[in-house]
Parts: sequence; C-alpha cells; structure tokens
Amino acid sequence: MEPYRIKVVEPIPVLTRAERTEAMRAAGYNPFNLNADQITIDLLSDSGTGALSAAQQSAAALGDETYAGARSYYRFRDAVTVLTGFDHVLPVHQGRAAERILFGALLQPGALSVSNTHFDTTRANVHLSCGTAVDLPCAEAKDLDSDDPFKGNIDLDALEGMLSGPDYVGVVIMTITNNGGGGQPVSMANLRAASELCRAHGVPFILDAARFAENAWLVVQREPGWSDKTPAEVARAAFDLADGAVASLKKDAIVHMGGFLALRDKDLAARCEAVLIATEGFRTYGGLAGRDLEMIAVGLREVVEPSYLRARAAQTEYLAELIEKAGVSIVRPPGIHALYLNAGRLLRHLTPADYPGHALACELYVAGGIRCAELGSLYLGVEDESGVLVKPAPYELVRLAIPRRVYTQSHLEYVAEVVGEIAKDPESVPGQRIVSAPDLLRHFHCRTEPVPTAR
Ligand SMILES: Cc1ncc(COP(=O)(O)O)c(C=O)c1O
Repeated sequence: MEPYRIKVVEPIPVLTRAERTEAMRAAGYNPFNLNADQITIDLLSDSGTGALSAAQQSAAALGDETYAGARSYYRFRDAVTVLTGFDHVLPVHQGRAAERILFGALLQPGALSVSNTHFDTTRANVHLSCGTAVDLPCAEAKDLDSDDPFKGNIDLDALEGMLSGPDYVGVVIMTITNNGGGGQPVSMANLRAASELCRAHGVPFILDAARFAENAWLVVQREPGWSDKTPAEVARAAFDLADGAVASLKKDAIVHMGGFLALRDKDLAARCEAVLIATEGFRTYGGLAGRDLEMIAVGLREVVEPSYLRARAAQTEYLAELIEKAGVSIVRPPGIHALYLNAGRLLRHLTPADYPGHALACELYVAGGIRCAELGSLYLGVEDESGVLVKPAPYELVRLAIPRRVYTQSHLEYVAEVVGEIAKDPESVPGQRIVSAPDLLRHFHCRTEPVPTAR
C-alpha cells in the first residue's frame, strides 16, 4: 500500500460520453488540445504532474530568493551531490535546458551522440548542436512480449563498433529508465560495460537520469548481486560510472519544475556555466525559484525511499495485470512510470495508415475521459508529399503515464475497466486520418478525423 495518506484533494471532472465526443471533435481528435476541465484521468505525462509532500511544501516556505548565493541553492546542491557525487552542479529550469547546454559545449558539428535511445528533446538538442543522434537499443528490446528484465540496455557490440569506427563520437548518453524504449530499465552491468568502453575511447559518458530512482528500484528487484542494496546506493553506483548527468527533476524529484546538469570536469562545467548564466539564470538559481530548489532537495530524498518505490512499482504492475486480464497486450515486462499498450495488436482491423495508436488514444478519451499519448506512426511515421504513410513506426503503441502519488487504486481500476470495455469490441474503434499537420513536432499540433468504418 502507499506509504502516505491524502491531505489535500482536487475534484476531477466527469463528463458524459456525449460531452466527451463533442470535446474530442472540437479538439481536432488531438488529446493535446483538450483542457484539464475535460479530463477525468490524465495519463498524458508523469512529468511535473506528481503530488507534493507536506515536507516539500513546508520546505518551500524556506525558499531563499536571494539573486546570488541563495541558501536554497546550497541545500539543492548538497542534495544533488550526496545523491550523485558530482562536484559541479548547475540548476536548470527543466531537463531539456541541461541537454541544450551540455550538447552545445560538447558536440562539434557532425559529431555523433550515441544512446540506448534518445528521448525526443534530447535528440532535438543534439540536432540543434549540429550533431547526429544514433540509437543503439539492445536486441531484446525488439520483442515487446518477452520478459527480459533489462530491455532498456544499449547494444554493447554496436556501441563498441561505433566507438572504434570512422565517425567521431562526441558523447554517449544513457537514458535511465529508457523512456523512448518502453520505459524499460538499464542494468548496472550494461552501464558499467558502456562506461568502460567510453573510457577506453576517451568519450564522455553521460546519464540522462530523469528516472534514476525508478531504474535503481528495478535493478534492486531484477539484477543478481544488487538485491541487498538500497535504491540510493544503486543510484550512486550508476552515477559513479558516469562523467556527468542531465536530469529532468519533474520526474524523480517529484516537483513541478526543475532540472540539473552535473559534471566532474571543471573546465567543461565552466563552459556550461557561462551558457547557463546567459540563457537560464545565475549559477545559484538557473531559472528556478528558491522554493523550487528547496522542494527538489526534499524530493530527491523522498524518491529513493524503498517504501515509496515499492508502492509505485506495485501500482503499475497492478494496472498491467488488470489490463492484460482484459485481453490487451502491453510492452512487457511492465516498467514503473508508464504502461505501453500494444494498439496495433488490439486494433487488428486498422492498418498503420489508420494510426491505430492514435485511434486508441482518442477512444480512451471518448469512452472514459482518459487522456494519454500515442507512440506510433503519428509520432514516428514518415509520409510522402501527398500525405501517404510511406514508413510506419515499428510499433503502434499508446503510453499510459502514471503521475507520482496522484491516483489511487480505484482510479487505476477505472482505467482498466475502460480499456476492457474497448477490448470487448475493438472493431468499433474507427481509424483516424490526418486533416492538418505542421512539419515539426506534428503530434502536438495536428488535427485528425475518424475514418468511417464499413460496419
Ligand atoms: C528521459 C527524458 N529525458 C529528458 C526529458 C526532458 O525533460 P524536461 O521535460 O524536464 O525538459 C524527459 C521528459 O519527459 C525524459 O523523459
């Protein structure tokens, strides 16, 4: 059970099916266009959506808003240093700012950034720094149904080939857990081997540590030799293998805004600090308020509590069990921050050109007011100039992201019921076609419409 009780509550809207149908139509069948007051259960993101603890809220009252040298910065820095062991800690307003600053300082034009899987902002920031992002997920990641415990790993042979090859590798960045790869964890053995390869080739080894605590928990549960360690010890062992880390603290510091860039190398840190001051803010606040820094310091301690992580992982596993019982496949094994529904398998009557993941996301809203995001051909597919899908995504998935400390067991049971109702008659779910879409980041802005079915 959850190791906390609820002290402050917020009502959630419950609309009728007719109201939701109209809301979806008015939103151009894009869940990103819905408003909060139209949504019953919001599983769009686990980022910045967690519930604060009483301890975090009381720490916020200590927020020191001094421009330079604020006390809050030192409490933030100490919490990050105790956790990671890095000497140079720069606060940023969120994870993508740390990525932009780091890649700008590390990558020469044409350099490669190699990863188990780049998150989409990470990839975009590599490209903005004139680098090229290369993903090398392990072979096990391709089988969505297998229970391999560490499908977030990098393919070590491919990494070695890349590091020994003719192209210049400017950085290797490991995303823990691997959000773009089904939320799967990375093993300590894989991290160590990747770190050793980088050291041998003189390439900086960086962690994208947005979900460092959830990765550590899955290592404790799944990796031989680590079961007697605390999540904080495992996290520290992971950071010890790296030259630095970028982190979105909107995930595993359970705050609404924040991030860090932490480094060992003094000169690199100095170059990054100059850009930080020019673009985010002075080195002791980096775009955050003193109260944010205080809440992060507390959140970083709370998130590694075994009782918290145990309950959070159990919540996701429970939802996975209910959904699978209802006959819907997920990417296995379940991770922690999200479940990925296999929409392609559920909606067999649709082709990738009918965007089955997007169709299922729209249906989850209309059927139950559940908002979530597609991770399929709408997000990753490629169309020709006339709008015909020429390269579908490898899988048609829907991500149900689970905010931290927000929803109760009965909320999740409700989600599983709605999924189960759809699974009873999947062929009633219409495909979708694109009506309008910008070239860049189209899944955020596009409008679609249902394709009438033959039934
Ligand atoms: C793995 C990963 N890296 C980086 C980011 C970017 O972080 P932010 O949203 O704080 O900019 C995210 C956000 O979802 C993420 O999941």
